[in-house]
Amino acid sequence: MENATSFEQIVNARRSMRVYGNQEKYNPEIVKKSLDLALLSPNSSNMQLWEFYRIRTEEARKKISNFCLDQSATRTASEIVIVVARPDKFKQSIRFNLDSIESPDNFEKDNSKKRRRLYYSKVMRIFYSGDFLFLFSLIKKLLVFFIGLKRPIIREVTSINKKVTIHKSVALAAQTFMLAVKAYGYDTCPIEGFDSKRIKKYLKLSRKAEINMVITVGQGTPEGIFYPRKRFSYEQVVFER
Ligand SMILES: Cc1cc2nc3c(=O)[nH]c(=O)nc-3n(C[C@H](O)[C@H](O)[C@H](O)COP(=O)(O)O)c2cc1C
Repeated sequence: MENATSFEQIVNARRSMRVYGNQEKYNPEIVKKSLDLALLSPNSSNMQLWEFYRIRTEEARKKISNFCLDQSATRTASEIVIVVARPDKFKQSIRFNLDSIESPDNFEKDNSKKRRRLYYSKVMRIFYSGDFLFLFSLIKKLLVFFIGLKRPIIREVTSINKKVTIHKSVALAAQTFMLAVKAYGYDTCPIEGFDSKRIKKYLKLSRKAEINMVITVGQGTPEGIFYPRKRFSYEQVVFER
């Protein structure tokens, strides 16, 4: 119960912080710890198609702030973390998962191992491989349509669905990160107002990498909260069937 209270306090206290202060007091170690926790986030098929770039020097922060249209949150942050989706690294993730099935500490049953080997070597390979002129997606969509006439089936099989799948998981890691930072006494602001092309070029990322979110970190200030938090009520958005 004590833990639940702390969690409630963290969730209630987290706000998007747009002005940071007290750069001298900033402890970058909390970002390392928060990222370690973010890596434990749930993610689709344990593919972990994410990367996190820590922007720490003043020069680099200035550059990234400029690519984020010089928002006050980026201008005043002590550190900026760029959360990146890596659909192009799917083969590495398949290998990682196949290796972990064979690891000596794997306690799963043999039939489950067999199923998972097949899942990573076949299903994941098909789902994540490239799409030529949307043709492969179209074939998959048609196949799913006909199989779906007879039984329930996962419908999201196109390359656009693949993007959504990856970004969902990456955003969950971003959220774990932000809550962890708050638990360590610092604040964050998630940002999607940025020039992704310039950021990718600056980070020397491959063309297929996608910027999921930019997150600013630092010591919060009262003036950094721009307006009261308002949300739809429970009754408006939660439904029971
Ligand atoms: C994906 C995403 C993108 C966002 N982009 C920006 C942004 O570019 N600039 C900004 O000041 N806030 C940005 N925000 C913060 C939201 O405006 C903020 O979360 C929302 O207004 C709710 O306020 P709260 O976080 O204080 O509860 C973003 C939030 C999310 C989740």
